[in-house]
Amino acid sequence: MNHKPVKLSVNVDHVATLREARKEKFPDPSVCAIIAEHFGACGITCHLRLDRRHIKERDILKLKRIVKGELNIEMCSAKQMIDFALKVKPHWVTLVPEREGEVTTEGGLDVIKNFTRIKNAVKKLKTRKIKVSIFVEPNLKQLEQCFKTGCDAVELNTNSYAISKGKKKQRELLRLKKSARFAKERGLIVRAGHALNRQNLHGILEIGEIEEVSIGFALIADALVFGFQKAVQEYIRILERR
Ligand code: PXP
Repeated sequence: MNHKPVKLSVNVDHVATLREARKEKFPDPSVCAIIAEHFGACGITCHLRLDRRHIKERDILKLKRIVKGELNIEMCSAKQMIDFALKVKPHWVTLVPEREGEVTTEGGLDVIKNFTRIKNAVKKLKTRKIKVSIFVEPNLKQLEQCFKTGCDAVELNTNSYAISKGKKKQRELLRLKKSARFAKERGLIVRAGHALNRQNLHGILEIGEIEEVSIGFALIADALVFGFQKAVQEYIRILERR
């Protein structure tokens, strides 16, 4: 069992969602990024969507200047996205699927079906020394293909675990555990994310292979009630309990 605390990358997308609701200049995701890092986040994540509905290119350029830890950009593998990443050179790119009109990312990347495209994207990003993570379902066949792309990390989709209850939740946790072990055995860094919150994080802490989680929506929602600093500190406190 790994007793190191799980690292937290704070996803600041929904700071930009609030700004865009009024087409204003505030709140600024960079300001929240500074607070998040100051109070213990290992880095900042944001998702550049094809419709640019929250995070814009200019947010990422600013984050690149101010983030002291690791900047992780989530994106689909469209050429315009990969080209932008090659220009900005974040520490990490997380490749995700994207369906037009989706409310949030709906599942992991189908690496089996899109193997050549994803492998090429990984190769391109790595030529610029950008580390690559793939957002994927906790499924051994998908993970085996991830490994074959040459990526550095996988981010296990925790959504099914997060939203299920009772025995199903235990089954989903087991699936995450087996997947994390499988990925780690192949030398991949193991991360997790999607729909995590203060209540469901405890299960994730049981999985020693998971080094980092990315949390957005629930943390931003908590920040509205408790303040951004307190919300970050509370997640860090939970993650340090491992
Ligand atoms: N990981 C990935 C790949 C995502 O697409 C998202 C949502 O943007 C998250 C993690 C964070 O999910 P949530 O906002 O539910 O914490």
